[in-house]
Amino acid sequence: NKAAIGLIGLGTMGSALALNIADNGYKIAVTNRTVSRVSEFINDAGELSEYLIGCDDIESFVASLQTPRAIIVMVPAGKPFDDQIEALKPYLDEGDTLIDAGNTNFHDTRRRDAELAADGFRFVGMGVSGGEEGARFGPSIMVGGPEESFKPIEPIINAIAAKYEGDPCAAHLGPDGAGHFVKTVHNGIEYADMQLIAEVWGILRDGQGKSAAEVGALFDRWNEGELKSYLVEITGKALGATDEATGKPVVDIILDRAGQKGTGRWTVIEALGLGQSASTIEAAVGARSWSAAKDVREAGAEILAVQPEGGPQVSEEDLADALLAARILAYAQGFDILTAASETYGWDLDMARVAEIWRAGCIIRSALLDDISAAFRGELPKGRLILAPAFAKRLVNGSAALRRVVASAAMNGQATPAFSAALAYFDTMRTARGTTDLVQAQRDFFGAHGFERVDQEGGGFHGPWALSAEDMNVSR
Ligand code: 6PG
Repeated sequence: NKAAIGLIGLGTMGSALALNIADNGYKIAVTNRTVSRVSEFINDAGELSEYLIGCDDIESFVASLQTPRAIIVMVPAGKPFDDQIEALKPYLDEGDTLIDAGNTNFHDTRRRDAELAADGFRFVGMGVSGGEEGARFGPSIMVGGPEESFKPIEPIINAIAAKYEGDPCAAHLGPDGAGHFVKTVHNGIEYADMQLIAEVWGILRDGQGKSAAEVGALFDRWNEGELKSYLVEITGKALGATDEATGKPVVDIILDRAGQKGTGRWTVIEALGLGQSASTIEAAVGARSWSAAKDVREAGAEILAVQPEGGPQVSEEDLADALLAARILAYAQGFDILTAASETYGWDLDMARVAEIWRAGCIIRSALLDDISAAFRGELPKGRLILAPAFAKRLVNGSAALRRVVASAAMNGQATPAFSAALAYFDTMRTARGTTDLVQAQRDFFGAHGFERVDQEGGGFHGPWALSAEDMNVSR
């Protein structure tokens, strides 16, 4: 009576996934580098232990699996992961599938996919979102790899995934690194949305003197309307929570220095590499990096002290409308990166399906995603979400509020990097004739780079400037 699937690595996420699989009636073999964790895990599993086969070593673990085997590897990314694959290989047979369900850089997934395929093994790079609770009770699952590698495990993956009106939030999205790439961009959007929410908190706390409880209640209300989303929901709850030791709001005793494990940064790096700019996501990644320089900010509070001119504070309604507009722009930038990557890597990503499997289980699940998938299935001018009728209308309607939020924050000296980036992107994209005419002139002036003309076909035109020693000295 062998196991349908195996899992190596009983950390937080690995344990939760294993219990989820067992809970869905599949027998699963588990093992862990620190062997004592295996019996501990089985003992804690209660009734589910009848679906678990605990193994103390790789050999017995592999032997306890049905063939062809499917093994989820949940060990830390990087070298430990490659080492684990090497340790497994001698026990595997051709056609066995290894599954990476961690937050892995898709370049590593592509490399491993090619290496394992050359050895006759199969590899599935699977992005899993929803944190520990999601992994245990229903995450969103973004699958990449050869379709035939996914087919045998598809019933298990669909069973453990979150359901949106009965539809499993899991899909095979494309070959090799497609799943991990989509998960990376999901996290990039997550960073942007979290930063936008934090900027709203800053405006209300520092600009309007609101308490954590008051702002928490506002987020609770917003979660009833168009802003309904997991992140708005947990923000309301987090702001409403009290620190037991001090009796203060928890948020007031948390140091304002945010960490990051890499996925947000990878999103920005990949965006730039693909000739895109995910400016709202970049603002969010940058804001976390700036937050780390706490000592510099403390010194800056003295050395750079300045009394801003000030200006009217914005209404709660404006903040809600601005948050919705900026959130749409962040999603749109994320989907633009996916579009560019899909073309570059030949993934043929189905954007509507990506939006659909984000509707439940994942961290960025929100009321917008249903409309986003509908927009991708319908008319999408120039392939851009911001131009889809449903979103263009919301952006146009929300733009005045977005503008007031950014202007008010600027006048009152409050940093809103993500809102500002969102507004700049919106204004750039509705400006048919921008200002890079002058950048082109400058490039041609100092580097003879050539430019295109508005009145003739082709490129390589030059301005009436001849490079001379005198020109090069103009600014001396
Ligand atoms: C999810 C989360 C999850 C996690 C990331 C981001 O989708 O479940 O994105 O993967 O929170 O590790 O963490 P950092 O903020 O530390 O980069």
